[in-house]
Amino acid sequence: MPNSQNYDVLIIGSGGAGLSLALKLADHSMRIVVLSKFSLTTGSTYYAQGGISAVFGADDSIESHINDTLDAGAGLCDPDIVRLTVTHGKSSIDWLREQGVVFTEEQTASGEVKLHLNREGGHSHRRIVHTADATGKAVSLSLIERAQEHGNIELFEYHNVVELITDTQKAEKRVLGAYVLDSKSQQVRTIAARAVVLATGGASKAYLYSTNPQGSTGDGIALAWRAGCRVSNMEFMQFHPTCLYHPQAQSFLISEAVRGEGGKLILPDGSPFMHNFDRRAELAPRDIVARAIDHEMKKRGIECVYLDISHKPEAFIREHFPTIHRQCLEFDIDITKQPIPVVPAAHYTCGGVLTDSYARTDIANLYAIGEVACTGLHGANRMASNSLLECLVFAERASEDILRKLSGILPVPEIPDWDESKVSDSDEEVVVAHNWHELRRFMWDYVGIVRTDKRLSRAMNRVELLKKEIAEYYSNFRVTSDLLELRNLVIVAELIIRCAQQRKESRGLHYTLDYPETDNSKPAQNTILTPCPTERC
Ligand code: FAD
Ligand code: SIN
Repeated sequence: MPNSQNYDVLIIGSGGAGLSLALKLADHSMRIVVLSKFSLTTGSTYYAQGGISAVFGADDSIESHINDTLDAGAGLCDPDIVRLTVTHGKSSIDWLREQGVVFTEEQTASGEVKLHLNREGGHSHRRIVHTADATGKAVSLSLIERAQEHGNIELFEYHNVVELITDTQKAEKRVLGAYVLDSKSQQVRTIAARAVVLATGGASKAYLYSTNPQGSTGDGIALAWRAGCRVSNMEFMQFHPTCLYHPQAQSFLISEAVRGEGGKLILPDGSPFMHNFDRRAELAPRDIVARAIDHEMKKRGIECVYLDISHKPEAFIREHFPTIHRQCLEFDIDITKQPIPVVPAAHYTCGGVLTDSYARTDIANLYAIGEVACTGLHGANRMASNSLLECLVFAERASEDILRKLSGILPVPEIPDWDESKVSDSDEEVVVAHNWHELRRFMWDYVGIVRTDKRLSRAMNRVELLKKEIAEYYSNFRVTSDLLELRNLVIVAELIIRCAQQRKESRGLHYTLDYPETDNSKPAQNTILTPCPTERC
């Protein structure tokens, strides 16, 4: 690959959002490049379990899906965005089927074959379209296959974006491309493009315990912030209630669909407890269930609670949850016979780069789609399985805007190469590893499920120190993939803490002992942070 390349559209991220957009644009004779900082499947999309929410049930309705989403979002969803997204549910599923995704079906008593629908927390109806308990893998593999077949799409794995390139000469700031580290050759290349799309996923790796695979370090949020985009609602980090608790299990999720099929949360002595916290018990929205588990664990000094589905017939469990069954067996847990030890873990970033309904950011020709974006769909708490739907709908919206505008965008002017003349190879990689661990530890301890002003300010003091150390390291040494992630993670941590400090109430996923009530005395406000033009990490 030459050191500098030119495309029509640069898409950063090969998850559900990025690949859907690439495929929606590719038939319109344009050159598209999709980057992934690891392999094409390394992202949250591949690991999605429960499914994709869409109204298919005979007793269900668009209005009901809208109301459930608004209710879970605790007063902060944008109702227009919720309606836009939910009304595109069916067409999004149809599009995925056209791409080759096979969803689980069932035969009704009358012999009709229909999509089988899961149920999850916050949803008042069965409405989760799925492929057993490995929906993300089915979606991911089909989209990758379609993209690999398409002559207009180039896919580059192990390419890590270092920085966005913007044109600061004009009154309106415009994106021109990105500097990209090819992790295999260790060269930083220049990729110029008339439109650039952030599809980089979330930031749950800011926390010590997370359901996310490697790479969820909020890169797109940090890249956009450094380039000058506003970021919103970062205090709403979602903790999934049920991550497998086992010393050898790294980040393995136990799908909410297990509770949807009757799984009970129990204490070590076998007693259920969710009914003490919410009338919907196990099927309350995630923020409530995760907080209830956290409360019980802290009150009783226990390391985990248990999720029990063993009362269901073995054949049913094996058919509906083959991946979870197999994975737990590897840790000697037979879910058909015994309860599963679970703990909450960081799962989803509800906030992100602020976008409009066409996924446009504050910088001309720069878009953000999928988990990296804050569209207004999730408000203060995302409802289960609304995320993959958002990836699909906003890929479609961004494609509409790009197709409308691309021919009018001027060619990208000459861009200088990445300058490495003042840096050398790092002599102490251990600093990066150490800072990574420290950051994720204090974010877990001080900025987790239950917050206080004091904990937030402790965390902020540490962020300030780390920022200085990382900035010095970045300006002296050649970039590596780990250093780039750490540099982004510390910015994301700062944004989460700043948003949390601004919210003087508890709402949705943000719960603080200093302001335990929701402030209903005035209309609910989103937290919006605007970058200072001189701010640099
Ligand atoms: P991702 O799929 O995370 O992809 C991000 C991409 O960006 C990757 O290709 C990555 O390599 C690339 N990237 C990141 N930074 C850079 C960089 N600096 N340079 C180059 N490339 C970069 N949601 C649902 O709706 N239903 C579910 O059932 C569900 N289950 C889930 C289960 C698990 C275990 C997890 C972790 C999440 C689940 N979610 C679910 C959430 C959902 O999967 C994600 O929100 C969604 O897949 C995000 O898709 P995305 O395309 O935005 O990002
Ligand atoms: C799950 O299957 O529990 C994950 C669903 C989601 O995060 O939307």
